[in-house]
Amino acid sequence: MRILGIESSCDETAASVVENGETVLSSVVASQMATHGKYGGVVPELASREHLRAIVAVVREALAESGSKLDDVAAVAATFGPGLVGSLLVGLTYAKSLCFARGLPLIAVNHLEGHIHAVLLEARRAAAGAPSGPELPALALVVSGGHTHLFEVTEGFQYRLLGKTRDDAAGEAFDKVAKLLGFGYPGGPIVDRLASHGNPQAVPFTFAKMKGNDLDFSFSGLKTAVLRWVEERGMQEEIAVRRALLRNRPHPTLEEWLAAAPRRTLDLLASFQRAVIRELLTRAAASAERIGARSLIVSGGVACNSGLRAAAQSATLPCPVFFPSPALSTDNAAMIAAAAFPKFARGEFAGFDLKAQANLTLA
Ligand code: KG4
Ligand code: ZN
Repeated sequence: MRILGIESSCDETAASVVENGETVLSSVVASQMATHGKYGGVVPELASREHLRAIVAVVREALAESGSKLDDVAAVAATFGPGLVGSLLVGLTYAKSLCFARGLPLIAVNHLEGHIHAVLLEARRAAAGAPSGPELPALALVVSGGHTHLFEVTEGFQYRLLGKTRDDAAGEAFDKVAKLLGFGYPGGPIVDRLASHGNPQAVPFTFAKMKGNDLDFSFSGLKTAVLRWVEERGMQEEIAVRRALLRNRPHPTLEEWLAAAPRRTLDLLASFQRAVIRELLTRAAASAERIGARSLIVSGGVACNSGLRAAAQSATLPCPVFFPSPALSTDNAAMIAAAAFPKFARGEFAGFDLKAQANLTLA
C-alpha cells in the first residue's frame, strides 16, 4: 500500500512515496536555500513562486524514483498547515488536482504530526516486528524553525499540548543569532559545526524562568543576551569581515569560517548552543516525567543538531530517546506520507473543500 506524500509548508518542495507506512521508496526535497539565503530568511512571496516552479518535477521524480505510477498509489497525502499560506496552497492544490483527476482519496496531514511520524516511521522500520520502537505514551519535542512544542502522544495518535515557545522557536533563535553574528542563513547548521570548536562554559547564559506554565519555552531573552554581549565587546569589525566573506562566497567552507571566527566568537556560539540545548532537554525531561512517558521523541530541523543529540544520549532522562535520521529531521514528505498511513487505515479522508490553514494547531 503506497502513499504519495506532498509537503510545501515553508521553503522546501518535497514529495515522497512510502510503502505500508514504513518503507521510504523515494524522498525528494527541492530546497530554496539559494533563493532565500541572500535575504537572511524566507521571503513568503518568493517561496510560493519557487514551489510552483518545482512541484510538478518533484512529484514526478518521487514517483519515478520509487518505481511507481500514479495507478500504484492508494492515496495522496498533503500538508494543510501550519505554515505559509501561499506555500501550503501550492502543494495542497496540486494534491487535490491529482486526486480529482485519478479518483484517489486525499489525506490531510498536520505538519507537526508529520515531524513526529518521521521518528515513528524509522523506528517501525528498524524494529521490523520487534517491540523496540518508541513506546506510548511518548513525549514529543518538535523543534524547528517555526516550532518548539511539547506534546504527549497516546494510543491512536492522540496529542495533548504540554508546552510551547512564547516567542521565538529554537531554530529561529539559531537563525537570528547566526545572522546577527554575520554567519548567514540558515544559522543552525553552521552554528552546530562551529560550536564544537568553542568552550560551552565561556559565557554564563541564564536559564529562562517561566511564569505560569513552566513547560513553556522562551528564547528571545537568550537572543538579546547574545546581542548585548556582542555590543559590549565591540565585535562589529569581525562581523563585517564575515558579511564580506558571505558576499564573495555564498557557501564558505568550515575552514574559511574558522579563519573568520576568533576564539571569543566560537566560545559565544558554543555557550549559546549549550543554553538552547539545556532549555530543550530540561523541559522535555520534566514533561516526560510528568506524564510518565515511556519514550521521548525529538524531531524537526533542530533535531539535526549534533550537540543536542550528544547531550540527549548522555543526559539522565526518564525514558529512552529517539531521533530521526538527519534527512528526515528537516522538512520532507516521507514524514507526511507516514503520518497519513494510520489515517488511511481509519478511512480518514479529506474533501476537496479542505483549506490550507496557516495557524493550524495539533492540540
Ligand atoms: O524542520 P525544518 O526544516 O523547517 C521548519 O519546519 O521550520 O527546520 C529548519 C530549522 C532552521 O531554523 C535551521 O536553522 C534549523 O532547523 N537547523 C538546525 C540544524 N539544522 C537545521 N539547528 C541547529 N542545528 C542544526 N544542525
Ligand atoms: Zn518543519
